[in-house]
Amino acid sequence: MLILFRKEEVTKLIKQTISSKKSIGLVPTMGSLHKGHLSLIKQAIDNNDIVWVSIFINPTQFSNPADLERYPKNLEKDIDLIKSISDKINVFSPNEKEMYDGMPKLKIYDFKNLDVELEGKFRRNHFNGVATIVSKLLNLFKADDVYFGEKDYQQTQIIRQLLKIEKINANIIICPTVREKNGLAFSSRNNLLSNSEREESSIIFKSLTLLKKNFNSLKLELIKKSIIKSIQKNNKFKVEYFEIADSETLQIHKKINPKKSYRAFICVSVNEVRLIDNLLLN
Ligand code: PAF
Repeated sequence: MLILFRKEEVTKLIKQTISSKKSIGLVPTMGSLHKGHLSLIKQAIDNNDIVWVSIFINPTQFSNPADLERYPKNLEKDIDLIKSISDKINVFSPNEKEMYDGMPKLKIYDFKNLDVELEGKFRRNHFNGVATIVSKLLNLFKADDVYFGEKDYQQTQIIRQLLKIEKINANIIICPTVREKNGLAFSSRNNLLSNSEREESSIIFKSLTLLKKNFNSLKLELIKKSIIKSIQKNNKFKVEYFEIADSETLQIHKKINPKKSYRAFICVSVNEVRLIDNLLLN
């Protein structure tokens, strides 16, 4: 296993890989790895000759400095976890200066309104930050395939758009959300919850499945409101949004068009820890 910290070293190796015609898979992460990440890495091993995992907590995608400050960090544990899958995986763990050549600077993109609703409404410039770093990583690794989790569905749509804008020739591979036994989607932020909060957060996935069950009901909006109310009965829980949006454009639905695909999106803040999830409805 190689663990590199410098872009220069990566560039040298990537040149060799490309000249030997081996395929490259990239799994971009912010570390604090969990079973969701491991499923992406396993998929990359199945598909690609050489797999790179990047571990970098990207400052430009955090609109709230406190959120960045408390984001969990665990490089040694992450490396052990990766090794437990295979010792052939390579890790790139740069620091801020290496990735941003000095001051972290955001690039502003036109995402065709994909960034206006849902997370975009609550985290100003979050997706510009994500796209800035993913674009840098893809330019560095020249990956054939890049892997993301369905849990961050809005992010995956943004990256699709980014690849078009930047004319980056990589396949985006989206892997299904991995859940804890109680249905809670794995997320690095789950580490910030107490045991009881983690258990109680199972209501997030239950709410999505309940909405899916009632998707054809004429009282869908009322049902949605009553679900929000029942989540917020727990005074540690605040629903930031619970919306039904077009799976492709991510615009909030006003009227269901049976020819289109819809998803439910939710964000619940549990004692200030933001948990997001989504579910395909039809
Ligand atoms: O999904 C994440 O962990 C991050 O947004 C990503 C894609 C690694 C970019 O920093």
